[in-house]
Amino acid sequence: MSREPRATFRHIAHPAPVPAHERTALLADPGFGRVFTDHMVTIRWTEGQGWHDAQIGPRENFSINPASAVLHYAQEIFEGLKAYRVKDGVTLFRPERNALRFQQSAERLAMPQLPESLFLGSIEELVRIDQDWIPGGEGSLYLRPFLFANETFLGVKPASEYLYVCIASPVGNYFKGGKKAVTVWLSDTYTRAAPGGTGAAKCGGNYAASLVAQAEASRQGCDQVVFLDAAERKWVEELGGMNVFFVFADGTLLTPPLGGTILPGVTRDSILTLARAEGREVREERYSIDHWRMDAASGRLRECFACGTAAVVSPIGKIKSAKGDINIPEAEGGPVTEALKAKLVGIQRGQVEDAFGWVRKVI
Ligand SMILES: Cc1ncc(COP(=O)(O)O)c(C=O)c1O
Repeated sequence: MSREPRATFRHIAHPAPVPAHERTALLADPGFGRVFTDHMVTIRWTEGQGWHDAQIGPRENFSINPASAVLHYAQEIFEGLKAYRVKDGVTLFRPERNALRFQQSAERLAMPQLPESLFLGSIEELVRIDQDWIPGGEGSLYLRPFLFANETFLGVKPASEYLYVCIASPVGNYFKGGKKAVTVWLSDTYTRAAPGGTGAAKCGGNYAASLVAQAEASRQGCDQVVFLDAAERKWVEELGGMNVFFVFADGTLLTPPLGGTILPGVTRDSILTLARAEGREVREERYSIDHWRMDAASGRLRECFACGTAAVVSPIGKIKSAKGDINIPEAEGGPVTEALKAKLVGIQRGQVEDAFGWVRKVI
């Protein structure tokens, strides 16, 4: 993707930002996705005019018509990435990948594609203006760009008007209590994505469809759902919000291949690159639930981990299912998981050399 010229955003002054002492109190323990910064970016798209009216101003409610297309047909996509406070400034991690995935999601949902310059510009403007909201320590500022159909029209067709918005949320640990290993529930009732569907797109509808399975997982005392493929109900695909990796006793890794039904995670791609750079063999191959069971029981499989922007790398200790549990030998995270996690987090936090040019300085 070419880098277009820098976008310009109209600035609207905030009449009453959160006072510093209240912000400090909120940043002490922000949790995940509950606290939001003072500002937001909006950009409009209409047929004929294209992208216009880029602005950054106070984060506030917006009103939309009850007949707005998104409320009926869920034509909506989003992204998730983080800004990190590092020793000498603020950085983003591979935001160009999120810009590209946002364009790919837009294409799949028959929406206009936001140019990379506008995507990156919107994020950088927001990070700069709300930089005091970036937590230190293990926290970060989670950025949520999204785009939705906003035409006032009832009828199933691509809309002729859209609104792009970017908001930001200071975050701590994704899993409550910062727990180390997670337990996942194997759904044998529900699937996440079918061939030809929207599994590779980051659209709200995918997550809406996963909620009943996620609720089932919670009832079973699990943190996340693991989904099998929709066609054969046999192949491990991914978790509700994270990709999955398997580490074998011979030191090799395996992750399910991208093929349209799995979200192409930025973290997944980063782990693949880091592991291969270390000289590890990593296969992008299908892996069946029966093999997962057998290999965990025999010890051929040593470690499992889930990965994504929100929780970065989380060991999977146990898989619960109606047909019996699978216990992972290195249930608290083994040496390979921990080493890859340390390297990735180190690069993101500016403590390990960024050999791949992944870190983008904002401030
Ligand atoms: C379904 C799903 N899979 C995988 C991921 C991991 O993607 P990334 O590493 O880009 O955050 C996410 C998170 O965005 C997700 O929602």
